[in-house]
Amino acid sequence: MCKQFMGFVAVAGLTGFFGEGVRAEGSEANGTLMRLAQAAAPDAGGAGSAGSNKPPEGKDDKKGGDPATQAGKSAGEAKWQDTRWKLDSGEPTYRISEDGTVDWGTYEGYKRYHAECHTCHGPNGMGSTFAPALTDTMKSTTYDQFKEVVSNGKTAADKVMPAFASNPNVMCYIDDLYTYLKARADGTLKAGAEAVKEKVAKSPATQEAEKACMK
Ligand code: HEC
Repeated sequence: MCKQFMGFVAVAGLTGFFGEGVRAEGSEANGTLMRLAQAAAPDAGGAGSAGSNKPPEGKDDKKGGDPATQAGKSAGEAKWQDTRWKLDSGEPTYRISEDGTVDWGTYEGYKRYHAECHTCHGPNGMGSTFAPALTDTMKSTTYDQFKEVVSNGKTAADKVMPAFASNPNVMCYIDDLYTYLKARADGTLKAGAEAVKEKVAKSPATQEAEKACMK
């Protein structure tokens, strides 16, 4: 369903045909956002929600959190909190270690980006004739602005950024898309699949939150 939908969006977006339909989706969109907010409720974090510098420990480290990227780089001081690396402000951030291993969220963002966004914004966020290079624009885009434009879309003279608010394949991973694109715009994450390695498993709490969101 998702592939078909995206095909339509890509084609419709490019011809500028999608404009009105996009705006009409507002209330359904809000419903999806509400569900997303609920799915992300803090108690899903369990032992990991206290907010320490270290991911929660378990018998199997890989299941406990994100130990493979403990020593990595983020957009600032970051803590492992509620299944993601977060800045003091509560915004999600990436975590990239020297060998190129990224936290699961950033990896997820990379995958989702190349499923949903790259047809217009180009591979690795580098732009195309249809849409701006997010590696540039994301340098100055805030978390709130990002959520706003991806949820509600945006129309320029002859180009359309579709509204994704009713698409769980995007909205359930909005934080991951954000951290991936921030890592690309910061220059911390190089272009290309080889820079993104999935060595880190999703924690059980994360899997629960994901399931609830995708329902
Ligand atoms: C159908 C083509 C298309 C698709 C698919 C698409 N976009 Fe866009 N996007 C655009 C266009 C065109 C603009 C510029 C709109 C404008 O400037 O008014 C844009 C703008 C944006 C902006 C704002 C950039 C700025 O100027 O600050 C962000 C952020 C963004 N897109 C993210 C995404 C993400 C994330 C996805 C995937 C979930 C996505 N886009 C999918 C066409 C697309």
